[in-house]
Amino acid sequence: MANPARRPLIAGNWKMNLGGRQGLDHRRRLADEIAAQADNQPQLVVLAPFTALPLLPEALAGTPVEYGAQDISAHDSGAFTGDISGPMLTGFGCRYVLAGHSERREHHGETDEVVHDKVAAALRHRLTPILCVGEPLTVRTAGQHLRHTLDQAERALTGPPVDDLTALVIAYEPVWAIGTGHVATPDDAQEVCGAIRGHLADRYGPAAAEQIRLLYGGSVKASSSAAILRQPDIDGALVGGASLDPGELAAIWRSAQPRT
Ligand code: PGA
Repeated sequence: MANPARRPLIAGNWKMNLGGRQGLDHRRRLADEIAAQADNQPQLVVLAPFTALPLLPEALAGTPVEYGAQDISAHDSGAFTGDISGPMLTGFGCRYVLAGHSERREHHGETDEVVHDKVAAALRHRLTPILCVGEPLTVRTAGQHLRHTLDQAERALTGPPVDDLTALVIAYEPVWAIGTGHVATPDDAQEVCGAIRGHLADRYGPAAAEQIRLLYGGSVKASSSAAILRQPDIDGALVGGASLDPGELAAIWRSAQPRT
């Protein structure tokens, strides 16, 4: 049974989709689906492409859906062509941002050091970073998935004070599960999330570790989400492909029952 103090969180990662006005219908349908969200219900966040951010306040007005971005510059301003800074994101009302998604690590060469600096930039601007960690298939096959994932988390988190870290969210996303349809079993997801929480407790103390929300991501669908979300150390889901369907995202959100 998970700690009821941690409010379940479902985050939809739209990736490079729904970037403009063509996504407005999706947002309206999503808003209709979850119009009745109350304070004690799971939290729902969409992580949109930068180009959609100016449209989100209007599209989601009057709904409890929150939003954020998929990337952040480690720098606040300057000669960083193509990058988007923390102040720019907060200027559009973002409250969340992904850091270290495996697609950024793979396609943009983001190292643990870069991810560390992005997490620090998010915290500096009071954005909640959703730090993504997780192993590729070769590492899992070699039985090194815990070591790999804990090392990624450790390298991303050295530095900030514990008080800041309680605002953090960590998403365990095994690379072999992302976009493949091969969702991790609830036991496999719990094994890693439990190890991450144990590591956080050793590193920052049990009180901080109990506050930090841990998500599972990788081929989550409404048909698989409830069993995963029942695990004691899993506080929500990071949803990619399935988040593009508002009905499916709302169904995943409904499967994350409030804790009592
Ligand atoms: P997926 O993506 O749900 O399509 O596997 C998850 C993610 O990349 O965050």
